[in-house]
Amino acid sequence: MTYGDGTRAVHAGLPAPEPGQPFLPGPVFAAPYHLDPETGPARDGYGRPDNPTRRALEAAIGELEGGAALAFASGQAAITGLLLATVRAGDTVALPSDGYFTVRAFAEGTLRDLGVRTLLVPTAGPYPAFDGVRLVLLETPANPGLDVCDIRAVAAAAHAAGALVAVDNTTATPLGQRPLDLAADVVVASGTKALTGHSDVLLGYVATADEDLLARMTTWRSQTGGIPGAFDAWLAHRSLATLDLRLARQSANADAVARLLADRTDVTGLRWPGLPGDPSYALARAQMRRIPGVVSFDLGSAARVARLLTASRLVFAATSFGGVHTSADRRAQWGDDTTPGFVRLSCGIEDTADLIADLTAALDAG
Ligand SMILES: Cc1ncc(COP(=O)(O)O)c(C=O)c1O
Repeated sequence: MTYGDGTRAVHAGLPAPEPGQPFLPGPVFAAPYHLDPETGPARDGYGRPDNPTRRALEAAIGELEGGAALAFASGQAAITGLLLATVRAGDTVALPSDGYFTVRAFAEGTLRDLGVRTLLVPTAGPYPAFDGVRLVLLETPANPGLDVCDIRAVAAAAHAAGALVAVDNTTATPLGQRPLDLAADVVVASGTKALTGHSDVLLGYVATADEDLLARMTTWRSQTGGIPGAFDAWLAHRSLATLDLRLARQSANADAVARLLADRTDVTGLRWPGLPGDPSYALARAQMRRIPGVVSFDLGSAARVARLLTASRLVFAATSFGGVHTSADRRAQWGDDTTPGFVRLSCGIEDTADLIADLTAALDAG
């Protein structure tokens, strides 16, 4: 029997029911654990390689992604861990030219210094031949421009050239798309965004069905130490239970916001993959299980974005996305390669009518 998303999210990673025990066991705060004086270390010897709270969260994420998951301290810890654990001097990595900019900055700094070349490819393509490429990292939908790529098609071309395929699943979440089912070798993601969704935790993960890669990443994480703490792992697991509900409202709000913005002549460059007519629409519909709550558009100037955010009562000026509160970020202020008036708006779980009324009034005021 196959359960629906709500059922899967609420039960993911929970232990079998046991009388007197909680549904989700509380966080285990431990650096060392007691050892058997005679036999020495079993699995639970030390908190860096192993923690039961983190293991439960990993079981949950792994169930949702369809592989085995390893939790990291942040999305960047997971992504840079994958890159450093898989590429060597002389290798080339293909990265999205329009994806999360810190990954590009890492490649163009640390990886370049290690002798690794970077090939930048726009998410919407065209994709080059991957001859000589060791790892192809896709980010779909891409943050912040929201272009989408055909994971199965790019993975086929990359695999034919002998490359490993990773997909950053941050924006979609595993309920939005399952890259491992679409022939990706590994998923990387920031769990800081919609996965945990309450703007109170930094988290990252790697998920794969490839046992060699899992072993390599497990060793990498144990030796480099980029683990989330037990309390953060527990908070993340607790938050996962409502992922289906949160995504549903965020997506419904994004749908309404996109339609509002599409009707306004003072807004340009509107992107939302769920909007018929959006360049990503057909591919997103075919590949994704649901469309995320992130919308992007251009208000023409930094001053106009500031006026909108000052006038709005419900839209917080904040970076990041995927949380329960609606927020908006003018990406150029962080050095992202976007126009000064480009906004990434992340829809929260407020009532749709309230959000639309607030945004309409704020746009009119600005
Ligand atoms: C698509 C994407 N990947 C990775 C990251 C990095 O995640 P974290 O901030 O958890 O390190 C982000 C952060 O914004 C992101 O948007």
